Amino acid sequence: MERWLIAVVFCILNVGNIASAIESKEDILRVMTNARLNSNPDVVPLHGGPVEVTLSMQLSKIREVDTVRGEVEIIAMVSLLWKDHYLSWLTTTRNESGSSEHGPDRVASFLIDIKKLWSPDIVAYNPVMDPELLSPPLALVSADGTVLYIPNLRIRFRCNLEDFEKPQGTNCTLKYGSWTHDGNKISLKENGVSVYDYEMDPRFDLLGTYAKVEIEYYPCCPEPYPLAKFTFNIKKNSRSIFS
Ligand SMILES: *[C@@H]1O[C@H](CO)[C@@H](O)[C@H](O)[C@H]1NC(C)=O
Ligand SMILES: *[C@@H]1O[C@H](CO)[C@@H](O)[C@H](O)[C@H]1NC(C)=O
Repeated sequence: MERWLIAVVFCILNVGNIASAIESKEDILRVMTNARLNSNPDVVPLHGGPVEVTLSMQLSKIREVDTVRGEVEIIAMVSLLWKDHYLSWLTTTRNESGSSEHGPDRVASFLIDIKKLWSPDIVAYNPVMDPELLSPPLALVSADGTVLYIPNLRIRFRCNLEDFEKPQGTNCTLKYGSWTHDGNKISLKENGVSVYDYEMDPRFDLLGTYAKVEIEYYPCCPEPYPLAKFTFNIKKNSRSIFS
């Protein structure tokens, strides 16, 4: 199994069987139709409240710390999980003759090109350049409309590195939020930073990671603006013979 797929399985426990996921053409067709109907990027699939997007990050590598420019480059999987009720095929099942709502022959989940679905316009607010996508652009859709998308990314972002060589190191924070929607349309939750796949680098010490969601308000507007912040406490490894 590919690395990023393992991460998918890590993220949701009850995803069903991915390998034998696509069994019923009828379900796929319905979801595809819904996806197309809903493909207008302005139409947020609201359902009695904002779409709640859960973000988490799996840090796999710190590639570079540029103290001159104040830039850090990492490789990380940024996972996004949300529910799009247009995609759910649980309740749309007809049950004449008393057939069960979600029988064993039904599709549990399947993979689909993320561009075919609505997806929240969550972007990093402090990158230096567009993140580079290193994984297939596939999302996992489950029968209840839950979508899981885990792009593996090379991300270069700004960070104040004045304290990089001090014992307490420096906190570098990646900030994520919706580019066009306020918190009444898209709300954010975080599910932490995982380092189970982190590859140590003799040049840096990773002293800690933190994740939180902060709600910001601006003088202009009453709406909340949520920001998910992922922080890496890094320090130069002075014992290193490298760099
Ligand atoms: C549909 O299924 C539900 C249980 O899933 C059952 O209670 C109901 O009677 C069924 N309706 C019809 C028309 O068969
Ligand atoms: C980094 O951020 C965490 C969480 O906000 C904080 O507890 C810690 O003191 C910070 N460390 C530094 C070096 O600023």
